[in-house]
Amino acid sequence: MCGIVGYVGNENAAPILIECLKKLEYRGYDSAGIAVIDKNEINMVKATGKIKNLCDKTNDGCSLSGNIGIAHTRWATHGAPNDINAHPHVSNNKKFAVVHNGIIENYMDLKKELVDKGYKFNSETDTEVVVHLLDMYYDKDFKKSVMKTVSRLEGSYALGVICKDYPNTIYAAMLNSPLIIGVGVSENYFASDVTALVQHTKNVIYIEEGEFAEITREKINVFDCTGEPVAREITRIVWDVEAAEKGGYEHFMLKEIMEQPRAIKSAIEPRIKKGKITLDDSGMPDDIMKDINRIVITACGSAYHAACTGKYMIEQLARIPVEVDLASEFRYRNPIINKSTLVIVISQSGETADTIAALKEAKQLGAPVLAIVNVVGSAISKLADYVIYTWAGPEIAVATTKGYTTQVTVLCLLSVFLAQKVGSIDKKTASSLTEDIQQIPKLAQRAIDLNPQIPYLARKYHNERSMFFIGRNTDYAVCLEGSLKLKEISYIHSEAYAAGELKHGTIALIDNDRLVVALACNERLLDKLVSNIREVKARGAKVLGIITERSTKIIPESDDIIYIPEGNTLFNAVAQVIPLQLFAYYVALENDCDIDKPKNLAKSVTVE
Ligand code: G6P
Repeated sequence: MCGIVGYVGNENAAPILIECLKKLEYRGYDSAGIAVIDKNEINMVKATGKIKNLCDKTNDGCSLSGNIGIAHTRWATHGAPNDINAHPHVSNNKKFAVVHNGIIENYMDLKKELVDKGYKFNSETDTEVVVHLLDMYYDKDFKKSVMKTVSRLEGSYALGVICKDYPNTIYAAMLNSPLIIGVGVSENYFASDVTALVQHTKNVIYIEEGEFAEITREKINVFDCTGEPVAREITRIVWDVEAAEKGGYEHFMLKEIMEQPRAIKSAIEPRIKKGKITLDDSGMPDDIMKDINRIVITACGSAYHAACTGKYMIEQLARIPVEVDLASEFRYRNPIINKSTLVIVISQSGETADTIAALKEAKQLGAPVLAIVNVVGSAISKLADYVIYTWAGPEIAVATTKGYTTQVTVLCLLSVFLAQKVGSIDKKTASSLTEDIQQIPKLAQRAIDLNPQIPYLARKYHNERSMFFIGRNTDYAVCLEGSLKLKEISYIHSEAYAAGELKHGTIALIDNDRLVVALACNERLLDKLVSNIREVKARGAKVLGIITERSTKIIPESDDIIYIPEGNTLFNAVAQVIPLQLFAYYVALENDCDIDKPKNLAKSVTVE
């Protein structure tokens, strides 16, 4: 996501900060900015687009003098990517500047309070409340104003703050967002990511949730939220720069797989208030479902597979007919769409040409369009009537992982939301389903922890020429994605089939030793699936059973097992797909494939 960095020492701060920002480029960003204190004034420069634009504006930082500063690369969340929304943000009197990673969930309430007190907001960001709070609480004591400010913030933050009255002090604070302090000689740093610092120092201090650090040229003091000093040791980093960029993982794909529990949490948390799902941030009116009698979801690739899970969830809970279509097909089939059809488009990048074309077609036919998108400011986010962001953060590996699971997560939220709107579920059911959704991040983590055997399974099966993924209902929708992941990155042919359909033709391809991956997580349909497994076993297939923790029926039918944590079956696609992503990853690793950049594929397909 965003990257932050700060420096205080004897050198000119800006060129150092820009060097550090460049090391954070791999995270993806859409704007950057820098603020330094020079002669007791805060000077600030921001630039939309690449860090190169910031370099051009500042002569690589040399045109800004001052030995203390903070800097930021922004991945837009609240507000479009532009110079005004880029960080740092400064207080109205230009006394304070702040950089921030994370999301301040209560920023609307805080903003109202600050506006009532006369503070003027320049940006659309959640972050700007921080800098006005600092000013509001400032009584010539920087530390106190930081403490009081962070005590008001809900959500997640890693913050770096400077004050022109304190030209040798940075405060850095964190809650639910990574932050490290870099320890140098007569200079010190903070950063969101070790990558930014390893070229300058490998000595770091990790502060803990709710703590904050006072960083001067000579000293680093760490405090708890009440302002009491806490002792934190210096740790020596052993990573080199390249390893650090991938957070210590060999590939971005693995890093992004492991980031999923956190990404999913970001998609859920801001949207559940007092136990109730709210999608206010989408811009949908309260009576969105008033004249809607049908939903069409359209997308490409993995986003289409997310749409397939959405169909099951929305139809089951809201009892509204849902049609799912590939965007490239939708456009040319003269679809029957009108103002009573809610069209949902799903896209990680928000730039996929086929999906954009489908969206335009839907709008032309008079349908309201809701987009589920990751990238803020993308074409789709601008064209749609309403937008729900997935908040997955930048995804670098071509094969999507957290992009897909956050789309499915948003569809879980949307299905309960729509069901409430149309009155197909009562309050009690809604609140128990909402609790089930809140479990998804934990289940995602458990799906990783339960399956240390996956690299071994990959070693066993990496020479297969072809595989089949079978399942029923939502399990089938997950098969589509599991199978696509395998072919995308390992180049092994694979097909996903509705388990009951296999016998109508494709079973002809099942022969001795063919691997069939059987998703058997739907308790209600287990007996049916056992029959389908026996059909393939009778033709000599080997079976990799994907089963829930407590399920035993499939064990005797399987050669190997992957476990899925128990969760609400309707919402369990996220936990189910993660071991399949890992299986595809390790098979590709065994086969020495270029995992992050598979042949013939592009991250964003902007041609039809
Ligand atoms: C490309 C990517 C896929 C992705 C699809 C849709 O084909 O390789 O991973 O699922 O585009 O992308 P979108 O950005 O619209 O979700």
